[in-house]
Amino acid sequence: MPLPSPTSPPPGPTDPLHLRAGGVSLVLDLPAAGPPAVLHWGADLGPLDGAALRALATALAPVAVNNGPDVAARVAMLPEAATGWLGAPGLQGHRDGDAWSPRFRRTGHDLEPVDGGQRLRVRHTDPDAGLDLLVEVELAASGLLRCRAELRNTGPGPYALERLDLALPVLPVAAEVLDQAGRWSRERAPQRRPLTVGTHLRENRRGRTGPDAATVLFAGEAGFGFGAGEVWGLHVGWSGNHRSAVERTSSGDTLLSGGELLLPGEVVLAPGESYTGPWLHATHGVGLDDAAARIHDWLRARPGHPRSPRPVVLNTWEAVYFDHDLDRLVRLAEVAAELGVERYVLDDGWFLGRRDDTVGLGDWYVDPDVWPDGLHPLVDRVRALGMQFGLWVEPEMVNPDSRLAREHPDWILQTGGRLPVPARHQQVLDVARPEVSAYLLERLSALVGEYDLAYLKWDHNRDLVDAGSTATHRAGVHAQTLAVYRLLDDLRAAHPGLEIESCSSGGGRADLGVLQRTDRIWASDCIDPHERQQILRWTGQLLPPELVGSHVGSPVSHSTGRAHDLSFRAATALFGSFGIEWDVTSCTPEERAELAEWVAVAKRFRPLLHGGRTVRVDHPEPALWAHGVVAPDRSAALFSLVMMDRPATWPPGPVRLPGLDPDADYRLSPVGPGAGPRPAFGSARPAWQSGGTAHSGRVLGTVGLLPPALQPDQAAVVHLERV
Ligand code: DGJ
Repeated sequence: MPLPSPTSPPPGPTDPLHLRAGGVSLVLDLPAAGPPAVLHWGADLGPLDGAALRALATALAPVAVNNGPDVAARVAMLPEAATGWLGAPGLQGHRDGDAWSPRFRRTGHDLEPVDGGQRLRVRHTDPDAGLDLLVEVELAASGLLRCRAELRNTGPGPYALERLDLALPVLPVAAEVLDQAGRWSRERAPQRRPLTVGTHLRENRRGRTGPDAATVLFAGEAGFGFGAGEVWGLHVGWSGNHRSAVERTSSGDTLLSGGELLLPGEVVLAPGESYTGPWLHATHGVGLDDAAARIHDWLRARPGHPRSPRPVVLNTWEAVYFDHDLDRLVRLAEVAAELGVERYVLDDGWFLGRRDDTVGLGDWYVDPDVWPDGLHPLVDRVRALGMQFGLWVEPEMVNPDSRLAREHPDWILQTGGRLPVPARHQQVLDVARPEVSAYLLERLSALVGEYDLAYLKWDHNRDLVDAGSTATHRAGVHAQTLAVYRLLDDLRAAHPGLEIESCSSGGGRADLGVLQRTDRIWASDCIDPHERQQILRWTGQLLPPELVGSHVGSPVSHSTGRAHDLSFRAATALFGSFGIEWDVTSCTPEERAELAEWVAVAKRFRPLLHGGRTVRVDHPEPALWAHGVVAPDRSAALFSLVMMDRPATWPPGPVRLPGLDPDADYRLSPVGPGAGPRPAFGSARPAWQSGGTAHSGRVLGTVGLLPPALQPDQAAVVHLERV
């Protein structure tokens, strides 16, 4: 990205800038020396004139304190050690040991309106260090704040960059930290701790977003929840190594920060070269739902956001695994079509030699032993049944036991003259090598073209370990991440309309970088609905339901061995991009009928589910969860009341339904076959499950709705319509 030429005069003093949108204010100080500093990021301050902004800057002017620098400085968005800042600096790097502590001066800035929000670009230079810096800040219409930095080497020799992180201050009222952890098949599990002096640092060296990514790192008021408490959150929109942190210093500053995590020597800028860091997405809210809504609204406002009704999917993975057999797969398609499925996705196992996971990755040709006529007989049948056809691929990966690896051993990322430790019997291709990306683009394009594919499920099943390039002899994760983005962009440009799902051993690549070029994430390899309740609840902190693949699995979960009835499996999957991943040819007629009803429910409610506002309920009983989606005009809502465990009291009491119009009356109807799950033995159903009950939004939000006597792992879904 070229640095724009200065359009404003070299700086003298500038009034602070006030960016306002979506209920958020961002007030920035633009000092002549140093990058911009945040005076306020949070609730809207209303209109402020120049005098009021100057008064705010004066009121917040740092004061010298004993035993500190004689001239106190405000911490900048790119914190500089040269100002006396003793926390983590934003920029780390050097020019052969020199230029390691730059002090930037502002050279110009532009502020322009963009799509209901504003974008600011602030340019800086440090001629002594031989560096130029651009800081971009965008406050979107939804109130989502995005920022990123670009560094250019204007000096005589190479500049080794180690880190370029941006930081945003949060108010001292922030007393707790919440982010996400997790692992394979248990992604995005929340974790919470007090915010104390020191750093809560999340570093990722997996070369992919990771099932354990922080996702959104929050600092907030003590006890903040879904509906209450001021929170500030940060998400790094990057699918490679990254870092996010909340740091509280002894000077009383609290900063959320993040950026790409660069490996040693990974980015060395030649004279004239520049590096651009990933977009950081920062969201403020009163409660986590408010903060989530700012991200969801921003995503939904993108021109490329999927707008057509999200098709009901059947994915073959847990139905057949590697056992690809035309008759069996056709039978599966026929039953799927009867159920109302709209998109059939053939998962792993279709390409050369792929009878298990030890062989074939990289050889993206249909295996003639299993598919003598190519995929055509299956694709044709699927189309004739009225469904779209989608295909699984894992482009970045290669099995050593493949034609590709034998022909091009140097295409594998590696270092030290040895191959990286294998994982799932596979290695990673160096996609940044032009010949590798050209090969992958040709293969993927050929497949999409030959079969007129509507959809690719793009998988990535291992971490990048020792990921060095044999071409550059450097660590290659940064280049790999950019090259994969380019490959996705090129493929989509060549095949407009092609949709892509981002999968990585389940939900290991779910971030706003990859989602700029994909249409859905696969949330997890774990389809156990009990686990999925948690995964969906917390994936929803970043992503709206239409982007989150959510399938009904078989009665006994393949990943946990737990058994669940269809009602709970389907009611759980409903609050996402709905699909089925189960050998439906083995269903009883009753199961088929019930599943078909759930498919109809998913289709009926998808405009609401995929366009409404996500709300999650803070209930004092930890066993009872509730979540819902409320239409933007609050004319309708769908809520799910979920019993995750055995509650301490029986019954656990009413559940307040947030987000409704207090002055409107809503008619309540139970959703799903049989008007909801069977009540616990000896228990009656609450009146609303018989239908016809109506209450005002005020009553439902203040008094609440009585859940039925749910047993553990049951969910009751209720539809509310304004009368
Ligand atoms: C991991 C994915 O998460 C699964 O859904 C499936 O596609 C397998 N890979 C196939 O190998």
